Amino acid sequence: MHALLLHTPLHSILPELLSKLEAAFRFLAQKIRIHNYPTVESEPKVDYGNGAYSAVQNASVVNPASLEGKVAVVTGSSKSIGASIAKELASQGANVVVNYINDFKSADELVLFIQSLGKGKAISVKADAGTISGSKALIDETIRAFGRLDILILNAGIMGSKTLEQIDEPFIDAHFNMNVKGPLFLVKAAVEALSTPGGRIIFFSTSLTTASSVLPNALCYVASKAAIEQVSRVLAKDLGPRGITVNTISPGPVDTPLFREGKPQHVIDSIAAQCPGNRLGTPDDIAPVVAFLASPAAQWVNGQVIRVNGGFVV
Ligand SMILES: NC(=O)c1ccc[n+]([C@@H]2O[C@H](COP(=O)([O-])OP(=O)(O)OC[C@H]3O[C@@H](n4cnc5c(N)ncnc54)[C@H](OP(=O)(O)O)[C@@H]3O)[C@@H](O)[C@H]2O)c1
Repeated sequence: MHALLLHTPLHSILPELLSKLEAAFRFLAQKIRIHNYPTVESEPKVDYGNGAYSAVQNASVVNPASLEGKVAVVTGSSKSIGASIAKELASQGANVVVNYINDFKSADELVLFIQSLGKGKAISVKADAGTISGSKALIDETIRAFGRLDILILNAGIMGSKTLEQIDEPFIDAHFNMNVKGPLFLVKAAVEALSTPGGRIIFFSTSLTTASSVLPNALCYVASKAAIEQVSRVLAKDLGPRGITVNTISPGPVDTPLFREGKPQHVIDSIAAQCPGNRLGTPDDIAPVVAFLASPAAQWVNGQVIRVNGGFVV
């Protein structure tokens, strides 16, 4: 190389030198990628000073989509949207707690399916996600089984249908217990166990909070979902300093028992026709967006309501 440099004009060897340098950089970049890969025990943490920090300085340095080694609780995940979320998180490597209230058979089948993927582990836990005692039991069981908690998905919810004249106290209480109080107390039970930084909390609302086509019988449902959106905004500020993000997923109409309950087929068809894709959403339309919010790549998405509705509400 010395002889080459002494006897050859610089301009003629420059291209070769540059290509060697580029190869060396590529090799180094690959090494850095491997060594910075987050592990369960120690996730890279960058201190920006003044108490500000981030789980990873540049999400593209680590595998931005990987949930490997994370532990996720998904409330109401024996079927419908929750089950699809549990499958998606597990397929990306997370260990998942499948929560249910009645249908132990579906919950256990889902656990077996997740185990058959050969990635994350799964357990099923019966607990009422609309009560304080159920919330505590769910988190206790999670920590007993996995020893940690990274992702909390507050998916379980109810949607009743009554107009102002029909609403009574048990009806409104049921909605606020299940859609607001339960999720809030689950966060309270989980917050000390959630990983910091890197913890993820994802609430569930509905695109009806912003749809002009909302009907009077959705009063209690929409009021309770609006409340959880506001809880989510405030918690994002509260927990952000710990490196925990708090967001809300707000689906449009999704073809599940909750959506179909009490609706004649012509009403379902007319709702589907309001989506530009001329169809209802499916649970699998929602799950990948939830998985993204749960991933390291979403560390800078905080306090947002993400509408996943195929253009039902724009
Ligand atoms: N579907 C839609 O069109 C739509 C639109 C916008 C927003 N959302 C929201 O998305 C979320 C999921 O909706 P979905 O349509 O998938 O609902 P779904 O079909 O009613 O989901 C049923 C799941 O929730 C579980 N569950 C019910 N009550 C529970 C409780 N008290 N504790 C724990 N788990 C409970 C069920 O368990 P068992 O199997 O044991 O009964 C089952 O796993 C809800 O928050 C809903 O408001 C849905």
